[in-house]
Amino acid sequence: MANENVLEIKDITVDFDGFCALLRVNVNVRRHSIHFFIGPNGAGKTTLLDIICAKTAPTSGVCMFYPEGRKPVKLTGMKEYKIVGEGIGRKFQVPSVFVNLSVMDNMILSLKGNKGVLQSVFFRLSKEEEEQINEVLRTIDLLDKKDEKAGSLAHGQKQWLEIGMQLVQKPEIIMLDEPAAGMGKPETFKSGEILKKIKETCTILVVEHDMEFVKQISDKVTVLHEGKVLIEGTCDEVLADQTVQAVYLGRGGERNAED
Ligand SMILES: Nc1ncnc2c1ncn2[C@@H]1O[C@H](COP(=O)(O)OP(=O)(O)O)[C@@H](O)[C@H]1O
Ligand SMILES: [Mg+2]
Repeated sequence: MANENVLEIKDITVDFDGFCALLRVNVNVRRHSIHFFIGPNGAGKTTLLDIICAKTAPTSGVCMFYPEGRKPVKLTGMKEYKIVGEGIGRKFQVPSVFVNLSVMDNMILSLKGNKGVLQSVFFRLSKEEEEQINEVLRTIDLLDKKDEKAGSLAHGQKQWLEIGMQLVQKPEIIMLDEPAAGMGKPETFKSGEILKKIKETCTILVVEHDMEFVKQISDKVTVLHEGKVLIEGTCDEVLADQTVQAVYLGRGGERNAED
């Protein structure tokens, strides 16, 4: 039987010169789910994404990736650049689109890969490639902006374009670190609706503070605290947990009160 988990994080410990950023973390991620990692600042969320994409090597433990129709891949110990080729994409907080190129050219660049900017831009697209790009642009609601310069897009649209640039490479997993940062409520909500469409074709790991956003789209939530998994469950289960309220939401409340 096919493994219903696309990713298994097994007993991961990360020790930065005596400081334990993650301690014996175990998480299974279901295929085609939206899986959130939440927790206070310093909980280890970004470190965990770094482990999955092999940017950081764990002190112990392994990360296994179960691609559809291929043999399992041990991510731990791989070169970071090879992870993308395996089908795992990552979007960082700062957009890295080419602001002087059109939306379409950004997409073409991403599809054609590392062939140099000019060469890619003048590369002829096959009918299928063009349709593939159009389909992604439809998903991220940028089809009618395809000829506009990426630099002229709104903040949220740039974020969606960057997600689109990952999607065109047909990843099985995408990782988003604080995708709603800097977005207003309507844009955040729309991001959620876009991610729900995307999960039909891929699995999404998200680190995010905005609890409305977590409620809107999460299938599973893992709460990290001081490098350990505090609890895991549906959004409702996690929010109902007293320890979570004390360590996480309590602090959020304090922070909001200061604002
Ligand atoms: N390269 C590193 N060297 C030493 N400590 C680090 C390093 N990266 C992260 N940390 C520490 O590990 C802890 C977890 O960090 P991080 O994963 O960024 O937390 P989060 O994303 O949940 O806010 C923090 O205390 C941070 O200072
Ligand atoms: Mg972080």
